[in-house]
Amino acid sequence: MTIDDIDFATLYRQHMAQSERRPKPASDWDARAESLGRKPLGGAYAETFISRMDLTGSRSLLDVGCGPGTIALLLADRLEQVIGMDYSPGMLEQLEHNAKRLGLDNVTPLLRAWEDDWRDVPVCDIVVASRSGMVADLADALAKLNAHARRRVYMTQLVGGDFLDAGLIALLGRQRTSVPDYIYTVNLLHTQGIHPRLSYIEVPSRLAGTQDFDEFAQRVSWSLGELNDDETSRLRAWYNFDPQRAAEGGAPLRWALIEWEPC
Ligand SMILES: C[S@@+](CC[C@H](N)C(=O)[O-])C[C@H]1O[C@@H](n2cnc3c(N)ncnc32)[C@H](O)[C@@H]1O
Repeated sequence: MTIDDIDFATLYRQHMAQSERRPKPASDWDARAESLGRKPLGGAYAETFISRMDLTGSRSLLDVGCGPGTIALLLADRLEQVIGMDYSPGMLEQLEHNAKRLGLDNVTPLLRAWEDDWRDVPVCDIVVASRSGMVADLADALAKLNAHARRRVYMTQLVGGDFLDAGLIALLGRQRTSVPDYIYTVNLLHTQGIHPRLSYIEVPSRLAGTQDFDEFAQRVSWSLGELNDDETSRLRAWYNFDPQRAAEGGAPLRWALIEWEPC
């Protein structure tokens, strides 16, 4: 057997189907839209992402799963046309609100899911999918990105199979089925003769910056579900053992930035 015998498209679909963290319905993102939309645009993740982009000769951008405009709006004044696509009407409301606030008149919202028909979605010079690629069918998603990008695609995906520190999850004895990470994308592109550039963006853990143990435990239980007494006391010991590590919430979260020219 060689790597050429592996069907990465099927492997990905199976991995995602087994994962506890399945793709969410749009209503879940609608519920979070206002709080995400209220956050100031920019920040280390977005600034790093756009600093690695090459917009030379590009006039249009399609941002898939754009959310409140994290990437699209930071680039809009350097482009003629920006399309923010999302399946959450709440997110698109935030995108429009933020664009208006910034005085941008070249940003068009498009209500559309990864899984929908994209035949009328405009082809753009650049296509971005930032932290939005948790899809059931990755091969289909990549085909859509390739079909809609004239020059370049930029996509970020999780590194490792979980959003939380693996050591912390193991300490609690939780058996979590990992989510498929960026490596499937690299392999699927490879099967199509595309050899992407790869870099990483590190951001603080979702558990970073809590004020005390109660807040920390609450954030852990948002991700892992309710903690029993034994788990809470193990978590407390972990939290108290190393205050610096506790303040950082364990290991940072890493995103892989995958960029390629469509074939
Ligand atoms: C983690 S947020 C990322 C937002 C923004 N791109 C960023 O990097 O900050 C994920 C976004 O993808 C959108 N999304 C998730 N699944 C989607 C799907 N199946 N089709 C279209 N958009 C989707 C969500 O509504 C949300 O706005």
